[in-house]
Amino acid sequence: MTTILVTGGTGTLGRLVTERLRADGHEVRVLSRHSEPYAVDLREGGSGLDAALAGVDTVVHCATTQLGGDERSAANLIAAARRAGASHLVYISIVGVDRVPLGYYRPKFAVEKLVEESGIGWTVLRATQFHDLVVQVLRALAKLPVLVLPAHACDQPVEVAEVADRLAELAQGAPAGRAPDVGGPEVRTFESLARAYLGATGRRRAVVNLPLAGKTYRAFRAGGHLAPEHAVGKGTFEEYLAGRFGRGEDGRRG
Ligand SMILES: NC(=O)c1ccc[n+]([C@@H]2O[C@H](COP(=O)([O-])OP(=O)(O)OC[C@H]3O[C@@H](n4cnc5c(N)ncnc54)[C@H](OP(=O)(O)O)[C@@H]3O)[C@@H](O)[C@H]2O)c1
Repeated sequence: MTTILVTGGTGTLGRLVTERLRADGHEVRVLSRHSEPYAVDLREGGSGLDAALAGVDTVVHCATTQLGGDERSAANLIAAARRAGASHLVYISIVGVDRVPLGYYRPKFAVEKLVEESGIGWTVLRATQFHDLVVQVLRALAKLPVLVLPAHACDQPVEVAEVADRLAELAQGAPAGRAPDVGGPEVRTFESLARAYLGATGRRRAVVNLPLAGKTYRAFRAGGHLAPEHAVGKGTFEEYLAGRFGRGEDGRRG
């Protein structure tokens, strides 16, 4: 049995990673801003962070915020993990953080570097977008009567449970460095994903594909966020939609 700390262990991915590690018999601590007894804001660090890490062998870093500060959080976490003598630091990153100049990706790429240079044994796994995120984005776009999509852009969404399985597996092994990326089973146009979402939720919207400007769009259009050579995921977007909306729960029809 190993003592493992999962940061962001209440989030979409972290919750599943925590479940798997506990099922495998490990002592798992969950750290997030709101999860007692390890309620810590990683951006601030402090004695609560040291207490959370005392006696921990492996740290699985899943915490993130869209509001900024992920780099500072990682620096605090790494410094505390070093003080505590942790032997393995596992980080979940995103395919294309080094190729797509999206604001959220820059700090993630910087955190990869911090992890690699931490002096602690490390593993970094990059994954493509989770199905949940695609639905979140499409739901926001579908608030308008016309669903406007970036023209000629694709995505390769993956089932978060499969990413959790892989991350939990890596956390239980020796430090692996950059692990092979995890991508979903299909590279799909945004339009085909949007039409599947509209169908599954019973929404009717006109769909317009709009060419955009800028280097972020160009990088997405060039597929910088895709990993077709690592299409190892099994669960399709349609299967996810059927599981989530098939019986009408979570979201209205019509
Ligand atoms: N979503 C995707 O499509 C996708 C794809 C590839 C990789 N990833 C990566 O996977 C990881 C997890 O993503 P997710 O979608 O599961 O995230 P999520 O659902 O938004 O969960 C974020 C977690 O981080 C915690 N957290 C946020 N700010 C914190 C802070 N300052 N200090 C401590 N804890 C904090 C949150 O809990 P509290 O609110 O209680 O603090 C929550 O447990 C991220 O690194 C993300 O970049 C995501």
